[in-house]
Amino acid sequence: MAPLIQLKHVTKVYQSGEEKLFALDNIELEVEPNAFVAVMGASGSGKSTLMNIIGALDRPTDGEYYLDGVAVQSLNDRRLSELRNRKIGFVFQAFNLLPRYTAVQNVEVPLIYAGVGARARRKLAIEALEKLGLGHRLKHRPTELSGGQQQRVAIARAIVTRPVVLLADEPTGAVDSETTQQILGLIEQLHRDGMTIVLVTHEAEVGARAHRMVRLSDGRIVSDTRKEPGRPAAE
Ligand SMILES: Nc1ncnc2c1ncn2[C@@H]1O[C@H](COP(=O)(O)OP(=O)(O)OP(=O)(O)O)[C@@H](O)[C@H]1O
Ligand SMILES: [Mg+2]
Repeated sequence: MAPLIQLKHVTKVYQSGEEKLFALDNIELEVEPNAFVAVMGASGSGKSTLMNIIGALDRPTDGEYYLDGVAVQSLNDRRLSELRNRKIGFVFQAFNLLPRYTAVQNVEVPLIYAGVGARARRKLAIEALEKLGLGHRLKHRPTELSGGQQQRVAIARAIVTRPVVLLADEPTGAVDSETTQQILGLIEQLHRDGMTIVLVTHEAEVGARAHRMVRLSDGRIVSDTRKEPGRPAAE
């Protein structure tokens, strides 16, 4: 199967004064359609840097990145944001909801960028929130929602455009264990529905729910293991 995500010799260097920091150092990674990958590694190992590049939020210093056959590094900023809007859904640890907007308005944001009309937008946003069990919280603002509810609004916002890839950077990092289970259940459901999932976590039990585990250390991939059906991924 042709890879959906293909990184070739991807390097990201941050320069501070004389010093060069290789946040990513020659990454080779292929992710096939409908994969469910966990990215693990110590703090500072490059996980978020990798996610930001896969999500076209950031560009590598060196190397090539193909998303669904498109050479991402050759796109200008406008095409890059179009690609991001069309193909990628993001979920972050800190929810990143707009505080003055209601749940439904938050979920509508990516549809505004996609040029969807007001009425269709509202309908799609409500459907996404209902799917995540938040049909009774449409008009609530983030401060009026629990952490788990806020994260579900963030997931609704990430999937409302029907992206091919869901990138989740520590989506359960700021919620309790019950909410963690709920969010993982939702992510597994999206995976069953055909979405490709890349999930960053530092929690072994969360990583074990994925079907493949990529481990980073100092900007390099140090292990890449696939799980046998029905077994937790080997470390
Ligand atoms: N904008 C930046 N400028 C300079 N250095 C950066 C920048 N962003 C990240 N770094 C450095 O790059 C390295 C990788 O950072 P990254 O955020 O990818 O780590 P991480 O694995 O996501 O860590 P955490 O688990 O703490 O979120 C770190 O050493 C970090 O200090
Ligand atoms: Mg990070």
